[in-house]
Amino acid sequence: MKAFISSLMILSALLVASNTQAASIYAGQATAAAVCSQCHGVRKQSQGSIFPNLAGKDASYLKTALKQYRDKTRLSEVMNNIAASLSDKDISNVASYYARLKP
Ligand code: HEC
Repeated sequence: MKAFISSLMILSALLVASNTQAASIYAGQATAAAVCSQCHGVRKQSQGSIFPNLAGKDASYLKTALKQYRDKTRLSEVMNNIAASLSDKDISNVASYYARLKP
């Protein structure tokens, strides 16, 4: 019985963990739809766009870029302002969302 209960606890912990994972992509999608897509779009930009394409880029690349904009080690008037309002969690959510999109 004890073993059964503890395996139930492990199972529910796993379910919670997988929900959190899914939720972060949804949260990233919400941020992207509300903010980022106005400039970056969701899929590939038209040629000659001044806005870099984000879809399908490596999540760690996107995270690093956003943190650099936030701490102003990478300068862009637009992106410095936007990144200033993002938490670490927002950054990892939106990065994992864009990384999963097909370019
Ligand atoms: C008002 C327009 C605008 C909005 C809104 C915007 N960006 Fe940007 N973004 C830019 C521009 C312009 C650049 C290019 C800046 C540069 O030269 O470094 C850029 C660059 C980036 C880069 C670097 C890409 C690369 O290839 O190095 C990332 C990552 C990025 N933006 C993420 C985001 C995310 C995530 C959001 C939403 C939270 C967002 N941006 C919202 C205009 C915007």
